Amino acid sequence: MISVSILNADFGHLAEACAMINRSRADWFHLDVMDGVFVPNISFGLPVVESVKKLAEKPLDVHLMIVDPDRYVEAFHKAGADWLTVHYEACTHLHRTVQHIKSLGMKAGVVLNPHTPVSVLEDIIGDLDMVLLMSVNPGFGGQQFIANTFDKVGRLRRMIAEKQSHALIEIDGGVDLGNIQPLRTTGVDVFVVGSFIFRSSAPEETIAALKQRP
Ligand code: DX5
Ligand code: ZN
Repeated sequence: MISVSILNADFGHLAEACAMINRSRADWFHLDVMDGVFVPNISFGLPVVESVKKLAEKPLDVHLMIVDPDRYVEAFHKAGADWLTVHYEACTHLHRTVQHIKSLGMKAGVVLNPHTPVSVLEDIIGDLDMVLLMSVNPGFGGQQFIANTFDKVGRLRRMIAEKQSHALIEIDGGVDLGNIQPLRTTGVDVFVVGSFIFRSSAPEETIAALKQRP
């Protein structure tokens, strides 16, 4: 599946970007919420998520890069998040936050930064709907893919099988046509793609190419 990150879209023409994603073969909208504290960048917040929800005909995959995300779980539910992912590094009581997300009817995901080993999820993997592995340091679109992510996907795949978890594996950062196939083979279910789509001359066709199996 492809989850299109709108971070690198033209925010002056967001409705056009949403219409393009609706028309395309993309599966989800990926929304990167940044607070300028957890990551060194500020993106957008609740009003933008609400606006995209009104335009989107596909599920919203909301990636919270904010400290203490538990405080905003209800607000993002009301804004229209279908999938809510929180950073392992930002949660003191991760189990509580995951249960909070699920109790509101959303799917719960946990994100790991590039330096965080997948082993920290051993005791919560059974409760998760998705694990998002950052393949760049969070904060900006258009960064280079970190190659160690391949090993991480393999380790996470084994953990998911061992614990009989139904969690999906999602990858975020630096995904393009050059690495999507080998990553798929390693066991990734959902690919977040941003700048590779929005910097291309024909975004809809680029999404179709990313969806293509060899
Ligand atoms: C980075 C964000 C990503 C970003 C991916 O902090 O979480 O979702 O938009 O963008 P690309 O595909 O440009 O690496
Ligand atoms: Zn993201």
